[in-house]
Amino acid sequence: MASNLTFSFETYLVGGAVRDQLLNLPIIDRDWVVVGANYAQMLEHGFKSVGKDFPVFLHPDTHEEYALARQERKTGKGYHGFSVIADGTVSLEEDLSRRDLTINAIAKACDGRLIDPYNGIDDLNARVLRHVSIAFKEDPVRVLRLARFYARLYDFGFKIATETKQLISEMIAQGELNYLSPERIWIELSKALNGAHPDQFIACLRELGALKIILPEVDALFGIPQRPEYHPEIDSGLHTLMVMRQAALLNADADTLFACLCHDLGKATTPTHILPKHTQHESRGAVLAKKLAQRLKIPNDTQTLAIKVAKYHLYFHTLNQLRAVTILKLLLSLDALRRPLVLDQFILACIADERGRLCFEDREILQGEFLKECLIALKGIDAKQLLLTVDPAKIPEIIHLERLKKIKNVIKDYTWS
Ligand code: CTP
Repeated sequence: MASNLTFSFETYLVGGAVRDQLLNLPIIDRDWVVVGANYAQMLEHGFKSVGKDFPVFLHPDTHEEYALARQERKTGKGYHGFSVIADGTVSLEEDLSRRDLTINAIAKACDGRLIDPYNGIDDLNARVLRHVSIAFKEDPVRVLRLARFYARLYDFGFKIATETKQLISEMIAQGELNYLSPERIWIELSKALNGAHPDQFIACLRELGALKIILPEVDALFGIPQRPEYHPEIDSGLHTLMVMRQAALLNADADTLFACLCHDLGKATTPTHILPKHTQHESRGAVLAKKLAQRLKIPNDTQTLAIKVAKYHLYFHTLNQLRAVTILKLLLSLDALRRPLVLDQFILACIADERGRLCFEDREILQGEFLKECLIALKGIDAKQLLLTVDPAKIPEIIHLERLKKIKNVIKDYTWS
C-alpha cells in the first residue's frame, strides 16, 4: 500500500526487497531504513515501536517495517552480545556496512536511485555471495542465512566468495556458532526446508564446516557407506541429500522434508563391523531424530513425523512382503485413520527415499497407492453396526479381526506391477 505521509527524515528501501527486485524475483516483504531520526521522532510521526532488540517501527499507514539506521558494537559472545547505536547520527553507509552480505546491503532511495557502497550490484551480476565487512562475524545466524541464500539462489549459480569462506572458518574455530539458539536455527532451517533446494542448504553448511556444529547427527552420515546394490551412490550423507532433492521435486512440505533429513540418522551409528549393512538403523535413527528435534525445540507434529519416518520407512519399502497384521500395525502407528495427512506425508517421504538413490530417480512406486487402498478399506468398516450385533466386551477384538480381513482383501486384489 502506498502512503501520502511525508517525513522530516530520509527513508530507503533496503535488504531483500532491493536484492530480489534486481534479480527479477517476486518481493515478499519490504524493509526500510530511516536516516536522521531518533526513537522519539518516530513516535511523534505516528510510527509504532515493535523492536525488542532493535529500534524497529511499523509505518502508520502501510505497516511496513522501518528500522533506524544503526551500528552495533560487539560486547560479548553470541546474538545478544552487542550494544546498538541508533540515535539519528548513523549514516546510511554506516548502517549498510554492518549488514551481512553485499547483495543485501543495497539501498534504494524514494526517487529510485540505488546506493551501493559495497558493490552489491557487481556481486549480484557476478553471482557472488560475499560478506560486507568484518561485522558479519557479529551475528552467527548469518552463516545459516548465507547457506539459505545459496540454496534459494541455487538456480542462478551463486558461489561463495573465498574470503567469506575464510571468515566463516575463523568464526567456527572461535566457537561463535556454538552460541546459536535452537529457535534461531529452526527459523532458518524451516525457511530452507520451505525453499526449492533444501538439499543445497545442507550441502552448503557442510562445505562451510558448519553442519557438524548445527546438525552433527546429519554431518556424521557423510562418509558412511551403504550396500552398492541398493545404494549405488554409496555415501549415506549423499543419499540423504538426494532424498531431500526428490522430496522437493514432489513439492513436499517442510515437515516431510525434515523427516527426509532425519530418516537415516541411525546409519551414522551402525557398528563398523557390520558395514555396509545397516541392520536396525531405523530404531537407532528414531532415537537420534527425537534427540535432534528436541534439541532444536522443533514443533511436535514435525518431530512426530520425523520419528515415524525414521522408524517405519523400511516397512514401506518391503510392503509387498508384509503380513496383514504388520500393515495394520503400521497404519495404526501412523495414526492414519484419524490423521490421513500424516499418511500422505509418510508416503511422500518414503517415495523420496526410494527415488533418492543414484539411477533410481525415475522409479515407479506403488506402495503409496496400496497403503491408501488399505486405509479406504479400514474406513469402510461400519463400527456402529458391529456395536449393535456383538457383545461390547468383544468389540476391540472384533474390530481388529474385521480390519485384518479388509487388509487381506486389499493384499489379495492388489497388483504390484
Ligand atoms: N540482516 C543482516 N543480518 C541478519 C539479518 C538481517 O544483515 N542476521 C539485514 C540484511 O541486510 C537483510 C535485511 O537485514 O537483507 C532484512 O533481513 P530479513 O528480512 O531477515 O531478510 P531478507 O534479506 O529480506 O531476506 P528474506 O527474503 O529471507 O526475508
